Amino acid sequence: MATSKLLVSTLRKSLNSPSPSSSFRRFSTAAAEAVAPASEPEDSLNIKGVKISARPLYLDMQSASPVDPRVLDAMLPYYLARYGNPHSRTHLYGWESDQAVETARSQVADLIGASPKEIVFTSGATESNNISVKGVMKFYKEKKKHVVTTQTEHKCVLDSCRHLQQEGFDVTYLPVGNDGIVDLEKLKGSIRRDTGLVSELNVSFHTDAAQALGKIPIDVDKWNAAKDKGGAPNEWGGQERGIRSGTVPTPLVVGMGAACELAKKEMDYDDKRIRALQERLLNGVRAKLDGVVVNGSVERRYAGNLNLSFAYVEGESLLMGLKDVAVSSGSACTSASLEPSYVLRALGVDEDMAHISIRFGIGRFTTEEEIDRATELTVQQVEKLREMSPLYEMAKEGIDIKQIQWAQH
Ligand SMILES: Cc1ncc(COP(=O)(O)O)c(C=O)c1O
Repeated sequence: MATSKLLVSTLRKSLNSPSPSSSFRRFSTAAAEAVAPASEPEDSLNIKGVKISARPLYLDMQSASPVDPRVLDAMLPYYLARYGNPHSRTHLYGWESDQAVETARSQVADLIGASPKEIVFTSGATESNNISVKGVMKFYKEKKKHVVTTQTEHKCVLDSCRHLQQEGFDVTYLPVGNDGIVDLEKLKGSIRRDTGLVSELNVSFHTDAAQALGKIPIDVDKWNAAKDKGGAPNEWGGQERGIRSGTVPTPLVVGMGAACELAKKEMDYDDKRIRALQERLLNGVRAKLDGVVVNGSVERRYAGNLNLSFAYVEGESLLMGLKDVAVSSGSACTSASLEPSYVLRALGVDEDMAHISIRFGIGRFTTEEEIDRATELTVQQVEKLREMSPLYEMAKEGIDIKQIQWAQH
């Protein structure tokens, strides 16, 4: 397995290198062939009015991450040769696609301890969350009127809950602690006789595992998860047992299955590697800088996500200065807005610190060199901004910044 790790990371490096190298040809998998034309020289990029001298290193794995070439290899035949509609019943093309979809369904089920029958393929997490949250409550609507969720859910879950509120359902938005974790006693206390969604008792449990699948162990039986309660759309084509109509896209589903199979084999290995890289980054930054705060729990977090705030610097300047590292501010998927993340606010992070938070996302192919370079660039940039910061100067003189009464103009 270590060999395949080496192969994929070498392959990725050659794909990202400015000019096609001979090593690129040596690892000529179907995936490598397919992406070969993309590796053109990139001496300088001019994009959205910003001139960038070279492709930045990428540490934003919670927003998007590269496809493992082994996964792409599994998908390609279903784009190029086996392109039948999996719902076609009259010819081989349909049958082989259907078989591939069912294999993928088993691979996904196997990763999370479910039965293949319990897996419904959708277009992504937003749709899955909508189907689950609205579907479960509409299924129960005569008997259950109450939903429990947390303030830190992804917007698509919160929006589904708001939609339910408009339809007359009652929603409790539970707070979380400074570590981002829900107090189980508070959770228990919030459950009512008419609660239709959240775990325990005889209510259903839904979880948005978009960032967890394949990264941390999931066992739906231990979670007592709701199975097949979706009273979601039943119109149109009736695919996916009527829960999610529409033609199932075979290559994507095959890719999901292959990714789940790989995750099952390599999750422990990936977790150890990623954990070591996270520690390297945090220790590296802390060795050079004071005032570095980890947002959320240090121990009880997915190691591939490190969300840091840097005291006494201005957040946007920090992000702009870090042009050579692709990172995000805010929580996953909401980085389009510059508002401080509602997730960090729910964790009790001060507004100013929430404004200067950076999310470093580490993945399967991140290297030590990338972590070291990111550390160096972050330290450089924070130091530069602090040199210009009167607040930092004052803090070093022992003045408590929080006690200062600023004059109003
Ligand atoms: C936890 C979580 N839920 C839901 C989503 C929405 O996913 P999508 O945009 O693929 O529907 C994301 C996006 O990354 C996410 O991180």
